Amino acid sequence: MISVSNLLFRRQDGDQVQTLFDGLSFEIAGQEQVALLGDSGSGKTTLLHLLAGLLSPERGQININGELISGYNEQQLAHYRRKIGLIFQHYQLLDCLTVKQNILFQHKLNFPTQSPVGFEALVEQLGLSNKLEKLPSQLSGGEQQRVGIARALLNQPKLILADEPTGNLDQTRAHQVVEMLTTLCKERQINLVMVTHSRQLTQYFDSVKVLANGQFNE
Ligand SMILES: Nc1ncnc2c1ncn2[C@@H]1O[C@H](COP(=O)(O)OP(=O)(O)OP(=O)(O)O)[C@@H](O)[C@H]1O
Ligand SMILES: [Mg+2]
Repeated sequence: MISVSNLLFRRQDGDQVQTLFDGLSFEIAGQEQVALLGDSGSGKTTLLHLLAGLLSPERGQININGELISGYNEQQLAHYRRKIGLIFQHYQLLDCLTVKQNILFQHKLNFPTQSPVGFEALVEQLGLSNKLEKLPSQLSGGEQQRVGIARALLNQPKLILADEPTGNLDQTRAHQVVEMLTTLCKERQINLVMVTHSRQLTQYFDSVKVLANGQFNE
């Protein structure tokens, strides 16, 4: 469950101040899957970064699954970030590590003393079982993004934030990846907020929010 109230976030833009959000409030129910649309520059990435605890608001409250992260200090935010899953447009895989190492790396970093649960089943579901020893450069774009999805899901997050994860993929691959991502999140009861520019891809989601002028219109 995500609850945001009365958010104020501004950026310094040269000697001007750019107000991105002033009084933004919204709720996303637990396990809901939301597609986030909006023109370029409307603040979608900024909003994801606020929800991820990578940016902090000047005013307002951000509550994620009972954690009031808007009041957290850096150390608390670092701890919070380990519990969420992030998926990016440019995959952000480590080129010198194999697929398997890429998927396991973050988990090892975040939870050094725990062994990951469900690795085999996850890579099987994402169709990556026969790619585990390959390097990212030997995979297609869609396969690389599936590695990014596996990496995010292995941590068993309650929330996944995805920023245009299909931005680099052709339409067929984009549909495949989003269908897999939403199916896996549904099965695992994970909240998903995914930024996209594609209206067509919103069919896989419970709801659609359109960001314009610092507010949601849908
Ligand atoms: N690091 C930064 N420093 C200053 N201004 C920034 C920074 N990042 C983004 N902005 C500005 O904040 C506004 C919102 O940017 P944001 O990246 O959130 O938009 P977006 O909706 O994700 O756009 P896109 O669809 O192009 O990815 C833009 O006007 C952008 O120029
Ligand atoms: Mg963006």
